[in-house]
Amino acid sequence: VMDTFISDLISRMTLAEKIGQLDLQSGFRNTTGPYVNDAYEQQIREGRVGAVFNAYGADFTRELQKIAVEETRLGIPLIIGHDIIHGHKTIFPQSLGEAASWDPEVARMGARVAAIEATADGIAWTFAPMADITRDPRWGRVSEGAGEDVYLGTMMAVARVQGFQGEDLSQPDTMMATAKHFAGYGLSQAGRDYHSTDVSELELWTTQLPPFKAMVDAGVATVMTAFNDLNGIPATGSRRLLTDILREQWGFEGFVVTDYTAINELVPHGFARDEKHAAEIAFNAGVDMDMVGMTFIGHMEALVAEGKVSESQINESVRRILEMKWRLGLFEDPYRYSDPARAEREILSEQHLDMARDAARRSMVLLKNDHQTLPLNADSLNSIALIGPLAHSRRDMIGNWAGAGDRSEQPVSVLEGMVRKLEGQVAIHYAPGATYAYLHDADSEEAHIRGKGVSRMERDDPRLVSLFQEALAVAEKSDVIVMVMGEEERMSGEASSRVDLMLPGNQRQLMKALKKLGKPMVLVLMSGRPNVLDWEDEHVDAILHAWYPGTSGGHAIADVLMGEYNPSGKLPMTFPRSVGQVPIYYNARNTGRPYDAGSENPRSQHYTSRYDDSPNTPLYAFGHGLSYTDFEYGKVQLSSHQLKTRNDELTVSVDITNTGEYSGEEVVQLYTRQLVGSTTRPVKELKGFRKIQFAPGERKRVSFSLRSDDLAFYRADMSWGAEPGDFHVFVGSSSDRVQQAEFTLVDK
Ligand code: IFM
Repeated sequence: VMDTFISDLISRMTLAEKIGQLDLQSGFRNTTGPYVNDAYEQQIREGRVGAVFNAYGADFTRELQKIAVEETRLGIPLIIGHDIIHGHKTIFPQSLGEAASWDPEVARMGARVAAIEATADGIAWTFAPMADITRDPRWGRVSEGAGEDVYLGTMMAVARVQGFQGEDLSQPDTMMATAKHFAGYGLSQAGRDYHSTDVSELELWTTQLPPFKAMVDAGVATVMTAFNDLNGIPATGSRRLLTDILREQWGFEGFVVTDYTAINELVPHGFARDEKHAAEIAFNAGVDMDMVGMTFIGHMEALVAEGKVSESQINESVRRILEMKWRLGLFEDPYRYSDPARAEREILSEQHLDMARDAARRSMVLLKNDHQTLPLNADSLNSIALIGPLAHSRRDMIGNWAGAGDRSEQPVSVLEGMVRKLEGQVAIHYAPGATYAYLHDADSEEAHIRGKGVSRMERDDPRLVSLFQEALAVAEKSDVIVMVMGEEERMSGEASSRVDLMLPGNQRQLMKALKKLGKPMVLVLMSGRPNVLDWEDEHVDAILHAWYPGTSGGHAIADVLMGEYNPSGKLPMTFPRSVGQVPIYYNARNTGRPYDAGSENPRSQHYTSRYDDSPNTPLYAFGHGLSYTDFEYGKVQLSSHQLKTRNDELTVSVDITNTGEYSGEEVVQLYTRQLVGSTTRPVKELKGFRKIQFAPGERKRVSFSLRSDDLAFYRADMSWGAEPGDFHVFVGSSSDRVQQAEFTLVDK
């Protein structure tokens, strides 16, 4: 039925109407690039727009849809999209935080709730998940992905696609997902956004492409091209990526949309002479829909007339887009996604806010906890000093790319969460104390004061000095100091790269001053990336990374600080000791001169792969995360020391005991290492993980199975498969705390 309907429709469309379907226009909100097209409503009326984004609200989207359905010749409905990354209005923790839960269910549920809310508000398409595997915390967009590991990143990406799309796209509470950014964007050089990438074939296939292949297999509806140039070919003009790999090798059946004006950008890339040439290159490479750039609208008819683009290929792209409109149920009821009654009922419902609170708790990572400083005990405390620029900032709670999330009323700040929990029991003394702003930002009076914080403070700016002194006074009269510090939310996200990973502004100076008081100090860190925390790690008693925890974040942080929830998150990205170590990641290869930190003869290590002025090891390794309880790992036991390449399975087991006093969850991690290969192999590769609940004193046997397929990789000839030989297998609580055993893969 669908095929006949669409073929008939296409046969009735003019070339201009077909080209209109390939055009995505931005509505009035949240633009992230140079083109703002005020005339988009008129263009919808003229049948020159297939989809609109940056538009939401049941009434507003209904109005737009009405123009398309009632005022155009063929009445083809629009697809309405928006960047729903970690929530629509009930904001869940940012994606990197969700990945830190090491629980794909958290990501699936977050996406599910986002879809329920967004669809009621008229949105049927999200530009998520971002599945760029990345190793450079300078890049602002690390907050939008799942970190550095391809195995974890793939699980999270697929879970998000499933959460957004559900089983059936025609259900009014499911929406199309977008696998983005295809491909290589996560390796932007020097962490600078939009920068070029040079990614070897091996790296491309090993870390960058697998999450995309998995999302295609999971039925993702659309794929977004990347801004970057990949090995000299801009991704938006890469026929190899968009057609050879995506369509022909992987059989992708949805449609390809560009990133914002990415076709136009082929000109400054130096890949196209002008925008007409850019449109020709991008379309022939495999792009179906132009985001904002108007290059197809502007030039496609001429390109067809000149024989540079074929109308039959345009028909193909139109068909893909119309098929999605059909699958979304838009031809049946174009207004099904604009449902004010459902919006009223579902958006920011108690249930969603509670789910966001739980997701936030599950994503927090306890980086350090000396002398069991955490959890705080309400019975033995009279007062808590809550200090820092993020302690009472609702605006920052929800982080960047936060859909249509409100930043002023809805989010629960840490102060509000703590006061609510401890009212009448423990006094909370609050002081912002410091600035977290960019030092070079001087746009507004407020930013001017905050932005110039450090240098002006040195010149005794009375306002900053008094902020500082207020914090010290508050700390002096309290039993424990809880500092809520980190990065302002706009320091993460698109176009938000940094060269400095320390906490910005004068936050560290304030911590140093507070340290002199000799009181227990807790740092609740909020940021969208791994930061450099060398001083903090040495001097602060406990550090909890809360990412940007979302609308209910203040309650979630209070739950964790007061021990109502025992933290269970693990780092999805390595935390360096200094920016100089970047890129630093757990699954590096060994090199020909590996450094041996444990060597008895340090001089023998001089000509090894190391730094003169820093250890090689990170401050906190991938997979690191403490609990209020302790887990003791027994020896790794294998069902055999041989695994056959065909139809065989090896069971890897370990007994784990909760030796502490709290019940808690542990993320048990499985890694392998192939000792010799046809290409040099990483020192560890994540192959599995399980998040398991333990009561105090409880002991459980945790088992994983390994098959030859799990050991497959891209071999020297770029074929995919396992190679017989010796392996190490590791089980542990982080990539740097593992138990080890050995086995051999035999060719039988
Ligand atoms: O979806 C985003 C993309 O990730 C970056 N540029 C803008 C797009 C639309 O907002």
